[in-house]
Amino acid sequence: MRIAQISDLHFGRDVPAVAAALLAELRDAAPTLVAVCGDLTQTAREAEFQAVRAFLDELPTPAVVVPGNHDLPGWRFWSRFTRPWRPWRRHLGTDPRGAVTHTTGGLVAVGVNTARRWGPHHDWSRGRIDARQLAAAATAFGAAPAGDLRVLVAHHPFLLTAAGRARGLVGRSGPALRHLRRRADLLLGGHIHLAYSGVVDGLVVAQSGTAFSDRLKGEPNSYNLIEATGDRLTVTIRRWDGDRFDAANRTAYRRDDHEWVAHPTD
Ligand SMILES: [Fe+2]
Ligand SMILES: [Fe+2]
Repeated sequence: MRIAQISDLHFGRDVPAVAAALLAELRDAAPTLVAVCGDLTQTAREAEFQAVRAFLDELPTPAVVVPGNHDLPGWRFWSRFTRPWRPWRRHLGTDPRGAVTHTTGGLVAVGVNTARRWGPHHDWSRGRIDARQLAAAATAFGAAPAGDLRVLVAHHPFLLTAAGRARGLVGRSGPALRHLRRRADLLLGGHIHLAYSGVVDGLVVAQSGTAFSDRLKGEPNSYNLIEATGDRLTVTIRRWDGDRFDAANRTAYRRDDHEWVAHPTD
């Protein structure tokens, strides 16, 4: 079981050489699933979505793709409030108001859209997960055979490090974590453009950096390769070294009675 987690592509601010190298890597890695954690475009323009579509068509394996805040029409308020997801629907073919579920041997992945047109705070880039999305995830996870890896794909983070503290957790992260505890295994996100992983409430959270945009926030482009076998899981951060992606950090986790813990000796 292998998941390639890529995020924050930001087409419009993409670096084509890095994108091409990533596609070549993914062909070699042959993941079971590619999880695309939002911010596929920079400003949700037509040409950017066309580039997104072309990129996704090149992926070697099925993908679960969710939007990020940059996939909303930014400061184009009329579009943002009246038809925020029209380009997404046209080019991606999914409805961001619903959850997308992908099931393959031993894996169930549910993608939810945490980007919102506005928020009750000054920073509208912040997102939210709502009760309807959690219910959809719980239903899909509940229907999966025991032992399957249950993965939630979102854009906004369920875990922050000190470097990203100011960006904020996904809205309603507390109730969401309580709801997902012992129901899910792995929560995937992006948005911060920093790569790390850890455990929260018995769930593994993996955050990927910006895969190939020039919107770097203090660290190089990266993506995560997640490998799972039974009750073991590893998250490998593969960073761009200026020439190619290379393994920069590998963290191991172990599942013990439905809850995950870090497993440094692995
Ligand atoms: Fe982003
Ligand atoms: Fe974002």
